[in-house]
Amino acid sequence: MPSFTVYKGSKDGSIQKSSTSKPELTADQVLLRITASGLCGTDAHYRTQDMALGHEGAGVVEAVGPSVRYLKAGDRVGWGYEHDCCGACQWCLSGRETYCPERAIYGLANLDQGSFATHAVWREAFLFRIPDELSDEEAAPLMCGGATVFNALHMYDIQPTARVGVIGVGGLGHLAIQFAAKMGCDVVVFSGTNSKKEEAMKLGAKEFFATKGKTELDIGKKVDALLVTTSMKPDWNLYFPLMAPDSVIFPISVAEGNLELPYMPLLLNGIRIQGSFVAPRLNHRQMLDFAARHGIKPILMKFPMTTEGITEAMQTLKDGRMRYRGVLVPETKA
Ligand SMILES: NC(=O)c1ccc[n+]([C@@H]2O[C@H](COP(=O)([O-])OP(=O)(O)OC[C@H]3O[C@@H](n4cnc5c(N)ncnc54)[C@H](OP(=O)(O)O)[C@@H]3O)[C@@H](O)[C@H]2O)c1
Ligand SMILES: [Zn+2]
Ligand SMILES: [Zn+2]
Repeated sequence: MPSFTVYKGSKDGSIQKSSTSKPELTADQVLLRITASGLCGTDAHYRTQDMALGHEGAGVVEAVGPSVRYLKAGDRVGWGYEHDCCGACQWCLSGRETYCPERAIYGLANLDQGSFATHAVWREAFLFRIPDELSDEEAAPLMCGGATVFNALHMYDIQPTARVGVIGVGGLGHLAIQFAAKMGCDVVVFSGTNSKKEEAMKLGAKEFFATKGKTELDIGKKVDALLVTTSMKPDWNLYFPLMAPDSVIFPISVAEGNLELPYMPLLLNGIRIQGSFVAPRLNHRQMLDFAARHGIKPILMKFPMTTEGITEAMQTLKDGRMRYRGVLVPETKA
């Protein structure tokens, strides 16, 4: 019976070390030893919940259940936000299982385990092989952050001829710049200040605009797609005039309340708002292949996988000091 350490959120937001026990492996279950976990902005939303945290996992297979078909002990795999789905509904059958009504996702299911932990048990069907070109630490942030931004561009057919705006150079944003640039798009970045300009340009941005205090921007040619990856809702009035006719906005940020948008500019220019949520498994796999082929990697700050390490990483993210994705690693490797 596997038993392992997990790190949970709590009512007052402090990180709690705890343990989880699982029954013997059945069906296509896989026991993993975790070697790295990204810290996603969404984890900060759950830190006041009594649940195991972390959903950008990477690890090594330790044991496999009786119907595991492809993985064996020693294989390097990752996993992300979704852990299971019904496999039979219209969305599962069309490769959009992230929208399955019976999906099991972070924050709503399997609250006893996450990627801030020593081990985890997941279905083989929801694990992804890590390409040789990526280390576990580099692969972990791709399991949610990378998958999410790749999915918006790929699932919704953004063309290589598109001019793509990215708002926010954080964990998601710095990966979005790389994916869009390698897809051939013309990438325009919007960030609070100029402090991340040099890095954003190195990652593939063509142009960079600091937005703090601005009520209007002149960016020349307008954008065909806009990925909103800030941790707060943006000032929509600043961005609507930058949208080309028939363009699309992906509000990727997780936020509470309503999405309030300028009404007439939306109508008059045929602008679409496209919700997008992590990545179905096929897109997720294609994302990993694409990242490996094009040398797309997150820029990391490492922290130890301990109560103190997680607390410090969360604080670094909150303070806006993360450059650009925090990754927790077991102490022996830190
Ligand atoms: N839809 C999905 O499937 C999905 C998946 C994963 C994450 N998310 C959500 O996506 C968002 C970004 O996640 P992340 O992990 O990339 O977070 P992150 O690393 O904290 O990056 C967010 C960026 O937003 C900007 N920002 C910070 N504070 C801000 C403020 N007060 N107002 C406006 N902008 C601010 C900063 O960029 P600049 O310094 O460049 O301004 C920061 O780097 C989060 O809301 C997360 O929950 C959604
Ligand atoms: Zn389904
Ligand atoms: Zn995430």
